[in-house]
Amino acid sequence: MKTRFLISFVLIVIAVCMPGCKKKAPTPQEPESKPEVEVKETRLMSANEEPFGQTADGRQVTLYTLTNTNGLRARITNYGAILVSLEVPDRDGKLADITLGFEALDGYLKMDTYFGATVGRYANRIGKARFVLDGVEYKLAANNGENHLHGGIKGFDKVVWRPEDLWANDNEALLKMSYISEDDEEGYPGNLACTVTYTLTKDDELKISYEAETDKTTVVNLTNHSYFNLAGQGTGDILGHELTLNADKYTPVDEGLIPTGEIRSVKDSPMDFTLPMSIGSRIKQVGNGYDHNYVLNSGGGTLALAARVYEPTSGRVMEIYTTEPGVQLYTGNFLDGTLTGKGGKVYKKHYAFCLETQHFPDSPNKSDFPSVVLQPGQKYTSVTVHKFSTR
Ligand code: GLA
Repeated sequence: MKTRFLISFVLIVIAVCMPGCKKKAPTPQEPESKPEVEVKETRLMSANEEPFGQTADGRQVTLYTLTNTNGLRARITNYGAILVSLEVPDRDGKLADITLGFEALDGYLKMDTYFGATVGRYANRIGKARFVLDGVEYKLAANNGENHLHGGIKGFDKVVWRPEDLWANDNEALLKMSYISEDDEEGYPGNLACTVTYTLTKDDELKISYEAETDKTTVVNLTNHSYFNLAGQGTGDILGHELTLNADKYTPVDEGLIPTGEIRSVKDSPMDFTLPMSIGSRIKQVGNGYDHNYVLNSGGGTLALAARVYEPTSGRVMEIYTTEPGVQLYTGNFLDGTLTGKGGKVYKKHYAFCLETQHFPDSPNKSDFPSVVLQPGQKYTSVTVHKFSTR
């Protein structure tokens, strides 16, 4: 019995000492450190900030980092409330940044692609840059031919948002920012007080929620314009990504990409993603690529699954849940290799896809589309969740 105990004791001592044996002997300058105990790295939810430069008019801008316990990391700046990067593990646990963008603020100050940006006051297009509300015609900035796109010349993507909250607890890490868009800004009526909140959860979700209130009847449609490539940003095109959209219908557009007003079935057309289909399988049949608003089967109003994207080489899956009635599928058709982004990556045509949850384009001029009108005393709310997993 005694001998058995002694052998066990010796074996334990050897096992405990072995890892230490690999350690190089301390040099005379290096004091002997405490015995090394193998500590398994445990990540905590965290929310941090650091300077990110300044705008042309001298305003200091910050870069915020939200990290979850599985290593997912979202970096956001309060310039344009832009999602700067989003690192997500593949099926082997290897992290990659899956959104297009720039390393420094400068790239964002110059861009016209809306990489990662919060878009408003009205995301997407308003035909002929005008609409009528309560019998009054409002003229907006025409920044896309004769049409208005993504809030105008200086939309919400080009303003400095005010940080309101930054914290992490055991379940989530959160950043909340606010912006007051003044009456007549880019031609819109009413002072609009908005907030956007990014929340990274322990369940690998990035939730983006918006709230807005006005002092005069106005229109609102806020979205996030992230460009995703689930294989890793800048690594190639997204034509092999497999997409499912919970949408039986879409809104056909004219040459200026303004909806005609028709709500058409996707059946028997290259627009159909009701079953998993690679993005590239029929893209040649839709001209320059997809740049269309899908009518979600949920009808909006409650948080429901809108889209699922699967990237076969990495195994990454992104699901999008939203309270919005529509989603714009845009396949990076205007990327042409002239932009160099993070890590020196050159962004070519179809190197990313966007799924911009939204109300339908040109709704202020389409009385049959779900209303985008916000009255004083009402609260605009919109929630979109990006949920990540692997297969
Ligand atoms: C949106 C539009 C596209 C394009 C991009 C930005 O998604 O629908 O037509 O303007 O933004 O380049």
